[in-house]
Amino acid sequence: MPINWFPGHMNSTRQAIKDRVKAGLDVVIELLDARLPGSSSNPLLAALTTGRPSLKVLNKQDLADPATTELWLQHYNSQPHTRAIALDAGDKSPARALIKACRELAPLRGDMHKPLRVLICGIPNVGKSTLINTLVGKRAAKTGDEPGITKTEQKIVLENGFYLFDTPGMLWPRIAIEQSGYHLAASGAIGRNAFDEEEVALELIAVLKRRYPQALQQRYGLAELGADDAVLEAIGVKRGAKIRGGAVQMHKAAEALLMDFRQALLGRITLETPEELTAWHREAAEAEARKAAAAEAARAAEKEKRSGRRAASSGDA
Ligand code: G4P
Repeated sequence: MPINWFPGHMNSTRQAIKDRVKAGLDVVIELLDARLPGSSSNPLLAALTTGRPSLKVLNKQDLADPATTELWLQHYNSQPHTRAIALDAGDKSPARALIKACRELAPLRGDMHKPLRVLICGIPNVGKSTLINTLVGKRAAKTGDEPGITKTEQKIVLENGFYLFDTPGMLWPRIAIEQSGYHLAASGAIGRNAFDEEEVALELIAVLKRRYPQALQQRYGLAELGADDAVLEAIGVKRGAKIRGGAVQMHKAAEALLMDFRQALLGRITLETPEELTAWHREAAEAEARKAAAAEAARAAEKEKRSGRRAASSGDA
């Protein structure tokens, strides 16, 4: 799906993260959307903070399927130098879980002399401001800028010897995997002008049919699930998206479905599993390798053609 998702202000964010790494960084917290953990992860963040332990926070767990959240937690917790916890805005004291997990990741730091320095990042709309507001409101003190660090970086003292840094701006991932683009769009992470709602809704229907068919049938009173576009049309009929003459306005049906999904009116749903994500990455890497091999073959053929032409022209002479 072509998504026009432009990396606005990304350079300053990238620089702010580089500055933080240079000034000292012990743990990186990456906020993920628990409904699409893999797709909401940002490979650029990993590249900028290589070698630093990582805490994956599966946020908005209240919207996600608890059993699949468990699979994702196991998946991340089995990776080296990585921990994962699930959170949501209903948790009134998230600091305790965050501090505990970060201390486990960097056990040699965390006192007044060697404070634990933690960076928090996440793609837009993942709930970073909400979480930081809860942290600041309840128990943390925000302090001013540190010398040498990008002016607008915020330092939040969660407890003695524990500093949380929030960089300005956002990192916007390059959407290399098509399915991830659909999931990000369905979740509301991408501005609505950047994608075709009908296309995303059809993709969402395909996922729901595969993973949560009953939720789809119950929500819209559908006795059976036919082809994806027939399902979308039926949703339009149920939601009164008909124009005079009886035709269903498919974009209205798509909007209704996306809204229902975002508000968890279909129940708690997770769009992807760790297994699927691994397969998508493998397929993307294979496609990339095929593209590189084709380009290499084309270059070699062109070179051969040129040397053939040279040989022919020297023969003529
Ligand atoms: P950001 O800084 O990462 O961009 O995200 P932000 O905190 O602004 O949150 C984006 C939206 O997600 C907000 O809803 C917020 O209320 C909601 N949200 C954040 N955390 C959670 C959570 O754990 N569970 C659920 N269900 N929602 C969460 P909004 O509709 O954009 O705004 P509003 O309704 O709060 O005004």
